[in-house]
Amino acid sequence: MESLIGLVNRIQRACTVLGDYGGDSALPTLWESLPSVVVVGGQSSGKSSVLESIVGRDFLPRGSGIVTRRPLVLQLHKTDDGSDYAEFLHHPRRRFTDFAAVRKEIGDETDRVTGRSKMISPVPIQLSIYSPNVVNLTLIDLPGLTKVAVEGQPDSIVQDIEQMVRSYVEKPNSIILAISPANQDIATSDAIKLAREVDPQGERTWGVLTKLDLMDRGTNALDVLEGRAYRLQHPWIGVVNRSQADINKNVDMIAARRREREYFQSSQDYGHLASKMGSEYLAKMLSRHLEAVIKSRIPSILALINKTIDELDSEMSQLGKPIAVDAGAQLYTILELCRAFDYVFKEHLDGGRPGGER
Ligand code: GDP
Ligand code: NA
Ligand code: MG
Repeated sequence: MESLIGLVNRIQRACTVLGDYGGDSALPTLWESLPSVVVVGGQSSGKSSVLESIVGRDFLPRGSGIVTRRPLVLQLHKTDDGSDYAEFLHHPRRRFTDFAAVRKEIGDETDRVTGRSKMISPVPIQLSIYSPNVVNLTLIDLPGLTKVAVEGQPDSIVQDIEQMVRSYVEKPNSIILAISPANQDIATSDAIKLAREVDPQGERTWGVLTKLDLMDRGTNALDVLEGRAYRLQHPWIGVVNRSQADINKNVDMIAARRREREYFQSSQDYGHLASKMGSEYLAKMLSRHLEAVIKSRIPSILALINKTIDELDSEMSQLGKPIAVDAGAQLYTILELCRAFDYVFKEHLDGGRPGGER
């Protein structure tokens, strides 16, 4: 049976493809109701580094200033036939095996919509990565929260970014991955400030503490990692990403993951937490959690899918003019997909018995 996360990923892609034709249908609502993990944090808090560690690849654009200017919907698919490649939704038949080319394409595709203006756009880029080395997971990378506009950007960009990030994290189905650097007071973390507003009980926030290796000698982050400084329902997870010097020296991700593991195992302060720290552990926990959340939402997702089927059916019957042929074909595709999902979700709901009672 297809994994629940894979299934939800396919609905998400189908909704996006059809976005332009969405019309009055329930598609945008369906998209928004699908659980996913949203990455938030201040600029330079380590968001890109955490994402690259989770994926085990260098593939995100870097540089100073506001690099992420469109949401990046990153769908990770674990493969068991050894295949290892990336694919953009806007380039359906092109398989990227060179991840430097993926990085360039994210930058180019960002500029295509924002016109090199350094402005931000809410139109997402969708990227799928198929690899034996990833866990099934969907992550949405967003522009970093910032306090000041850089040269050439209007002052309004600060509020625009916060507005965009807020629109994602306030959805009750979002799992918030809140990234904060350990070498900064947690009370001043942009990620925690926002998470506290939209999720005061800390029920859907996962706290990630980066840069543990950069703390002043003689201090440690146990107050945060053990939940005393800011309490969340899920345990905090500390990570050690590559430093800028590592990146300049091209330290690869696999070596970096190994070093991170050694860091925790040999640490006087964190040794007792070693098995619950690090990027690999974070990826595993998030995948498990996302799967559980999807499972708990199956009945409401099913209800929405059925509503969508009804609305697509009636939209289909209104089409027929030549101009709408393309839209009609798209609608037909998604209608078929929705019917297929309806069936497979019911199987999952029945505890995985194929053909279980419906
Ligand atoms: P973003 O702006 O939130 O995406 O942050 P980046 O991931 O680009 O990281 C900003 C800078 O901090 C980069 O130079 C990273 O190499 C560095 N960095 C991120 N995490 C760590 C960490 O855990 N340890 C160290 N030493 N440097 C880190
Ligand atoms: Na921050
Ligand atoms: Mg970044």
